[in-house]
Amino acid sequence: MQKFSDKVALVTGAGGGIGRAVACALAAEGAKVVVADIVEAGRETVALIEAAGGSAVFVRTDVQSSADTAAMVQEAVTRYGRLDIAVNNAAIDPEVAPEAEWDEAAMARVLGVNVQGVFLCLKHEIAQMLAQGSGAIVNLASAAGVVGVANKPAYTASKHAVVGLTKASALQYASRGIRINAVCPGAVDTQMLQENLGGGVDKSLVGANHPIGRLASAEDIARAVLWLCSEDAGYVLGHALVVDGGLTVQ
Ligand SMILES: NC(=O)c1ccc[n+]([C@@H]2O[C@H](COP(=O)([O-])OP(=O)(O)OC[C@H]3O[C@@H](n4cnc5c(N)ncnc54)[C@H](O)[C@@H]3O)[C@@H](O)[C@H]2O)c1
Repeated sequence: MQKFSDKVALVTGAGGGIGRAVACALAAEGAKVVVADIVEAGRETVALIEAAGGSAVFVRTDVQSSADTAAMVQEAVTRYGRLDIAVNNAAIDPEVAPEAEWDEAAMARVLGVNVQGVFLCLKHEIAQMLAQGSGAIVNLASAAGVVGVANKPAYTASKHAVVGLTKASALQYASRGIRINAVCPGAVDTQMLQENLGGGVDKSLVGANHPIGRLASAEDIARAVLWLCSEDAGYVLGHALVVDGGLTVQ
């Protein structure tokens, strides 16, 4: 029996990395999936889902745009009739060098995508879920949402803000049938990590820095996201679930 048959889900930033893994995992459990991304790679995610026998549609979406995020939710309703699950995953992390520490442009850019973007997605998703009287939302925060990371002031601030947005919105809609939670990964083996490390750093060294002794795969994170979306987590609300191989326990 599939966990999400008859459910309609949307995932932002689903053109690759964790977003793609979440979209594919939701589809494998029977959900119809709106794949939202600013890049066309979202179409490859749709192709993967369809090749596995699932149903998905790509919507080109810049999460910084209120019009785009409204249209993304509308596509779920027009195409599939409702919206049960939303995973707000899209984010950027362009701070790669210590000298960028107090880069004003980076701060504006990161907060625009990572905070305003999640805010706009929540706004439009919640409006639809309120009309239905139910829904589950998971925001992708980070271990950098619960501890500080040197040389990453914008990213760290943005992910703490995602945890704050999660708690505020979870409280506001707790009695209206909508559960909102966050997942906080440690280092995950995706394009974002690769770009962060640049060419010169061996990513297995980063994995070794995690008590569990390895990096997370995107699928490791997807499993935690799916649990929070499921009825198994029906009493979990406003939680920032750390999935980091023990990184922040040290
Ligand atoms: N990779 C890690 O080590 C790690 C660790 C902790 C948290 N996270 C978080 O997990 C989430 C996914 O990360 P990932 O590693 O898969 O990243 P990624 O860079 O591999 O994928 C991010 C996706 O978001 C999309 N995106 C970027 N800006 C967008 C915008 N304005 N509108 C719509 N889509 C946009 C990109 O096109 C890309 O497909 C992010 O929220 C990230 O902060 C990642």
